[in-house]
Amino acid sequence: MVEFALPPNSRIKPGKTWPTPAGAKNVKTFRIYRWDPDKGGNPTLDAFPIDLDDCGPMVLDALIKIKNEVDPTLTFRRSCREGICGSCAMNIDSDNTLACLKPIAEVKGSVDIYPLPHMPVVKDLVPDLTHIYAQYELIEPWLKTDTPAPTSGERLQSPEERARLDGLWECVLCFCCSTSCPSYWWNGDRYLGPAILLQAARWVFDSRDEATGERLDQLDDPFRLYRCHTIMNCTATCPKGLNPGQAIADLKLALFERAG
Ligand code: SF4
Ligand code: SF4
Ligand code: FES
Repeated sequence: MVEFALPPNSRIKPGKTWPTPAGAKNVKTFRIYRWDPDKGGNPTLDAFPIDLDDCGPMVLDALIKIKNEVDPTLTFRRSCREGICGSCAMNIDSDNTLACLKPIAEVKGSVDIYPLPHMPVVKDLVPDLTHIYAQYELIEPWLKTDTPAPTSGERLQSPEERARLDGLWECVLCFCCSTSCPSYWWNGDRYLGPAILLQAARWVFDSRDEATGERLDQLDDPFRLYRCHTIMNCTATCPKGLNPGQAIADLKLALFERAG
């Protein structure tokens, strides 16, 4: 029997409970947010008892098993299965993380899975990333130069200049951080949020880029950058171990130093 502990006033209602696999001795229940735009109505939390003796170790393994063997309509994003593409970001056991990096064994009790919080939902676990990608485009995430490229090869950096980008280039744009940030929840229409600001820092602090002043001008805005109040949810949740809160502080410092 699957227990549901949703608050009585929740708009998410208990949904379908699927049968326990025959003969299974090591069963874990995955309770998964379901919403289908074609059906409308309020979302439900469907329960899928899964035999862990016949399932891979990560939450993404269970989701793929459910889609392949139980309910093919279950919808989620995934690609690499290695924590590289950033596609499988979702809220698992109350944390935003990558399903392919989250061991099932870390979750006590049922595994509760929701889409990333405070984002419009396309279907089930798929958030609508249109707005956040428009914000990404705004920071022009590519090398900008005025000087002609060297004819002899690449634009070079010293090892120290290259090291300045460590902790920035590894970001996989999963948006776990932005969707855990209270400032982004309430002001995401104008505040760029930690993921986009970390990406902005990746270009501001690139020694080869020649648009640093223009990039800082773009960020020098009460909403785009300064809505960050150093709550640090972003850093706590990043599944790649990055520190967007520090990147934001570095951008503020760069603006402060430029102002003299
Ligand atoms: S440090 Fe800034 S960006 Fe990170 S969660 Fe807090 S307010 Fe949001
Ligand atoms: S900083 Fe971390 S949590 Fe944020 S988008 Fe990049 S990888 Fe994801
Ligand atoms: S599937 Fe690519 S990060 Fe999880």
